[in-house]
Amino acid sequence: MKVLITGGAGFIGSHVVEECLANNYEVVVIDNLSTGKSENILSICKNYTLDINDDSLKHVFEVEKPDHVIHLAAQASVMKSIEDPISDGVTNVIGTLRLLEYARIYRIKKFVMASSAAVYGNPDTLPVDEKFPLNPLSFYSLSKWSGERYVQLYESLYGLSTCILRFSNVYGPRQNPLGEAGVVSIFINQLLNREKLVIYGGQQTRDFVYVKDVAKACRTAIESSKSGIFNISSNSETTIDELFSTTSLLAGITSKPQKYPMRIGEIEKSVLGNEKASKELNWQASHSLQEGLKETISTFHQLTKL
Ligand SMILES: NC(=O)c1ccc[n+]([C@@H]2O[C@H](COP(=O)([O-])OP(=O)(O)OC[C@H]3O[C@@H](n4cnc5c(N)ncnc54)[C@H](O)[C@@H]3O)[C@@H](O)[C@H]2O)c1
Repeated sequence: MKVLITGGAGFIGSHVVEECLANNYEVVVIDNLSTGKSENILSICKNYTLDINDDSLKHVFEVEKPDHVIHLAAQASVMKSIEDPISDGVTNVIGTLRLLEYARIYRIKKFVMASSAAVYGNPDTLPVDEKFPLNPLSFYSLSKWSGERYVQLYESLYGLSTCILRFSNVYGPRQNPLGEAGVVSIFINQLLNREKLVIYGGQQTRDFVYVKDVAKACRTAIESSKSGIFNISSNSETTIDELFSTTSLLAGITSKPQKYPMRIGEIEKSVLGNEKASKELNWQASHSLQEGLKETISTFHQLTKL
């Protein structure tokens, strides 16, 4: 079986590539390297340095004839979406639409799209399940939601089999501190480099899910006969203050962060229920926050020693 992974040079995409290769898939990557890194792409997979909006996208489908698509390529920064909503929409909406159109034409068996907890906005009851009303508060979350709606229409109009995976805050090795939910890599980098740390607020909560569990969810989704929307999360709430103290304890470095008030517009509490993914996809997050942080710190440690 061959799987086409868009965004395979990125943080999550590179782990999805590894997960698929480890499970005997042939892997083809499309990535324009806008935030991804060429060193993240393993030499055993075929790689196209290409924008998903480039005309030669069709050629890739024609030549490679993939069985499945896992679509992770995206403009993934909330801040950038506010600064430049047009390029956010072009990548996240039009790019997704173009992939869906070729998925239809070339009869893809399963199309999996990465979406985000950001589509729920600032929910007042927790944990949030997939039926919770959506309330995008940024152009990024709106473009992700629009992508989702296109995916659903391709399923209902053309019978394309699809899964939409709404990730909570993903963390782990190779995370870009500037991307969505980069707080873990920011903390680790600053602790290891003995830099001054700043926390805005601290009592806001997030649902941190380890990247290898997310990669497994993507692979499980292409193998499943189920369609639909699934939260991919740890189903547990961690405050930023707790995250900081656990990270500093595991890194063995003490530091007293400077505290400022929480930034305006920031989501106060976030935790996603993952019961549906557990029941229907038979997927569970298998790494505790401590285990995931330990692995992440050790890879960042190795990098700082190089
Ligand atoms: N990191 C998180 O916590 C998180 C949470 C929710 C959802 N997501 C979603 O997961 C996916 C992966 O995110 P990530 O954190 O790995 O970000 P990332 O920036 O590391 O990965 C995105 C990849 O897509 C590539 N890309 C961007 N625009 C492209 C284009 N037009 N054509 C081809 N390639 C393009 C980038 O070069 C990069 O390699 C995204 O869809 C993001 O919205 C991430």
